[in-house]
Amino acid sequence: MSNEVYTIKDRKVVLPTWLDTIIFDDLSASYCRQKKDMVVLEWNRDDVRKYLGTYFPRSYAEAFCIFGDFFSKEKNVYENCQELSIFDFGCGTGGEIIGFIMAVKKQLPNIKKISIKALDGNSYALRCLECILEKTAKILCLDIETNLIPVIIDDFYDMQVVEQTITQSYDFVISFKAICEFVTKQQFEQQNPYEHIINIFMSKLSDKGVICLADVTSFNAVSQDWLPTMLDNASKACNIDILYRNRGFNEDYHITHTHHKNDTSKIAWRIYENKK
Ligand SMILES: C[S@@+](CC[C@H](N)C(=O)[O-])C[C@H]1O[C@@H](n2cnc3c(N)ncnc32)[C@H](O)[C@@H]1O
Repeated sequence: MSNEVYTIKDRKVVLPTWLDTIIFDDLSASYCRQKKDMVVLEWNRDDVRKYLGTYFPRSYAEAFCIFGDFFSKEKNVYENCQELSIFDFGCGTGGEIIGFIMAVKKQLPNIKKISIKALDGNSYALRCLECILEKTAKILCLDIETNLIPVIIDDFYDMQVVEQTITQSYDFVISFKAICEFVTKQQFEQQNPYEHIINIFMSKLSDKGVICLADVTSFNAVSQDWLPTMLDNASKACNIDILYRNRGFNEDYHITHTHHKNDTSKIAWRIYENKK
């Protein structure tokens, strides 16, 4: 972890060497940027390798910065905890989960165990994540309990089934760059997918639980709207408070690894809690 660089002001991150080795050497990832409005759900093994080398490091950096900052401000809420639980909706290869874990490791040394439930419809991506989590647990000497759910959500009904199977409450529900695909594929018909997801998961939060949604900030050709505008419309329609959010329209994050220096991503994000 010695080469890790992180400043809140600049949002510049270097991928830890051990993680760089896992994705590029052990899992044969490659760096390759894709076009806008991509639908990762349908990608094959080779596509997922490109995703892993390009977008995993970006999501890692985004989550490491967002949660690093969050935990530094909310330390008192977590200082007596030994365990945390997290649900990731549309986890893919899970860069944001590893970024989250590293932020916990940095800011909350009292945490000994993290329980992770993560849902995604792409089985290639889930296999990568399973392998990365197993190695991460060993390297960080952390108890990581993993429950990966390989489910494709086609409509409201599938989502209802998922909702019924979530019987536990979570300290964190997160979704990074996944809901945009539900917008593109209109899986929830005309309903705003951000609103639908917030409403489902707010009832699954523990007493200190929060939801973090992060997404790309492009104009979506299917909904004919900007994604951050859809996110804001959802925030207003739901019975929630915004605890933290990105400054401005979007925020840029920078990640350096062996296959690219200073790769930049732009996202909008919000952290919500139940209305007090
Ligand atoms: C752009 S990727 C983001 C992955 C990860 N959260 C990240 O930030 O790297 C979107 C993910 O959502 C998943 N996804 C999209 N639509 C889905 C659906 N209808 N059911 C299940 N998973 C879906 C895809 O398989 C993909 O892994």
